Amino acid sequence: MTMREKIEEAAARYPDQRSAIMPALLIAQRERGHLPGPVLEEVADILGVERIWVYELATFYTLFHTEPVGIFHLQLCDNVSCMLRRSEDLLRHLEEVLGIKKGGTTPDGLFTLSTVECLGACEMAPVMQVGDDYHGDLDIARIDALLDRLRATVRQATGADLAAAGPPGE
Ligand code: FES
Repeated sequence: MTMREKIEEAAARYPDQRSAIMPALLIAQRERGHLPGPVLEEVADILGVERIWVYELATFYTLFHTEPVGIFHLQLCDNVSCMLRRSEDLLRHLEEVLGIKKGGTTPDGLFTLSTVECLGACEMAPVMQVGDDYHGDLDIARIDALLDRLRATVRQATGADLAAAGPPGE
């Protein structure tokens, strides 16, 4: 099934095509990896809605990526509860061990690092979302263990020794 067919099938459930923009964007992102301008235009054309409506949603919600992201998108919450539990220290640590700044992607394409607004899981602050999973009560040791696990996942899947390469510059 093509992306167009998937979007049309999802959109058929909505009487107003504006309501189908979010599910259509999720489909497009799954199909294309991220949502550059031409993909947003394609989604708008398939739904027959204004391009600006699609653009507004795609750029407002952090779950949508208009730029390419790494295999693992590390989305660290920096809102109040997490900030009070020292999410800034975790951000600095992540930037250091990954060798990138917030918003960047590691050269090996494994990790993209972002900060996001409240993830709705303040009870386990500080929290970071990776894909569909939430990781809470984080500290530096837990962050390091998580990165090791994520690298191991890719290593197992590809057979490549990406973990041994370590962060850039080492
Ligand atoms: Fe971080 Fe709510 S403030 S999850």
